[in-house]
Amino acid sequence: MRALAWHGKHDVRVDTVDDPEILNPRDAIIQISSTAICGSDLHLYDGYIPTMQAGDILGHEFMGEVVETGPQSTLRKGQRVVVPFTIACGSCYHCGKQQFAACDDGNPADNQDIAQTLYGHPMSGLFGYSHMTGGYAGGQAEYVRVPFSDVGPIVIPDGMEDDKVLFLSDILPTGWQAAENAQIEPGDTVAVWGCGPVGLFSVQSAFLMGAERVIAIDHFPHRLDLARRFGAETINYKETKTYEALMEMTGGIGPDACIDAVGLEAHGFFVDNVIDQIKASTFLGTDRTHSIRQAIIACRKGGRVSMPAVYGGFVDKFPLGAFMEKGLTLKTGQTNVQRYLPALLNAIVEGKIDTTFLISHRLPLEQAPDGYRMFHDHQNEVTKVVLKPGLDRVAA
Ligand SMILES: NC(=O)c1ccc[n+]([C@@H]2O[C@H](COP(=O)([O-])OP(=O)(O)OC[C@H]3O[C@@H](n4cnc5c(N)ncnc54)[C@H](O)[C@@H]3O)[C@@H](O)[C@H]2O)c1
Ligand SMILES: [Zn+2]
Ligand SMILES: [Zn+2]
Repeated sequence: MRALAWHGKHDVRVDTVDDPEILNPRDAIIQISSTAICGSDLHLYDGYIPTMQAGDILGHEFMGEVVETGPQSTLRKGQRVVVPFTIACGSCYHCGKQQFAACDDGNPADNQDIAQTLYGHPMSGLFGYSHMTGGYAGGQAEYVRVPFSDVGPIVIPDGMEDDKVLFLSDILPTGWQAAENAQIEPGDTVAVWGCGPVGLFSVQSAFLMGAERVIAIDHFPHRLDLARRFGAETINYKETKTYEALMEMTGGIGPDACIDAVGLEAHGFFVDNVIDQIKASTFLGTDRTHSIRQAIIACRKGGRVSMPAVYGGFVDKFPLGAFMEKGLTLKTGQTNVQRYLPALLNAIVEGKIDTTFLISHRLPLEQAPDGYRMFHDHQNEVTKVVLKPGLDRVAA
């Protein structure tokens, strides 16, 4: 089959590789109909995530048709499913608590050492996201093997287009969990750093959870426009100083809840960010954490900070004093996708959540390397790239 493989920093290629096979009784093989490129994939593309190997197949946001099932899979051939990016067994201690992204059984033991050393515990398995998270082949491919197919995938009702449901695989539940972690109360003012897909779904979710005002922060005019479309007020940090603007907009109090949807590649010419950049480029540091620092400084006393954004290593210049003295709460984590799927699918079916607005480009799989370049270099207008292997078949 054809699949998009990582070969190094800024080097991804569509290769011919072996078709996936059923390895375990609970596996299923899915023929991919749609698969998206995520902001998290850019962290791989930019070479920030350790334990990648040349030839690793990328992609953790995908859906398609079931074409083969192991004897213990509960799926049937021909069903259309969306697959969560977190690989969870459904029966370990953490899955029992619905903390699917902390599953103990999804990451094979021989891949656990680095995470054990870095984080104190191994991480759960993720599709297409390094050997630290299991080394699983991802779904930016014609076919993918889905382990624990009796737990993760959600069956899509007949007649619903891919574009309406694809983002159930990651960014929609991620925006939802981000808002849930912000513990929003009716009447709250919520600030969201980053108007990428995760930030934009955080904006929608915050309003659905009762926020009175949402203030979205970015520097890309088109992405800020999209946030405004959902009722957010916006700050363009290239034109206005974010902290000062937030204080002015909240009468000096600060937002009740702050969501960091930027992550370890923060942009911007700020003193701390320039130092982070120098440290990262000289291998003295890893993450550029400007947005989470700023969220902590701007948050009102006693407020909540939610961090769906991905960070990988260790940070300095972290405002621990402000965090403690203001009595803030911080919640974070990879998304427990499985937990939110039924309710979010229902919200889409009922028309309460729209996801299609986000897709700016639909490309055949063969053009995936162009998709990565565009999403990386033209973030303003390229809001989400969806790869459709079916378009290659039409073209062939
Ligand atoms: N927790 C999870 O399970 C999970 C799932 C998916 C994505 N993520 C993470 O969420 C983050 C966002 O993902 P995305 O797909 O929306 O990415 P994205 O790269 O499309 O969007 C990030 C946005 O942040 C903006 N930004 C950069 N620096 C900023 C700053 N200083 N202030 C304000 N805005 C700034 C960028 O302009 C961009 O629009 C990434 O770190 C991604 O890895 C986490
Ligand atoms: Zn993703
Ligand atoms: Zn588990």
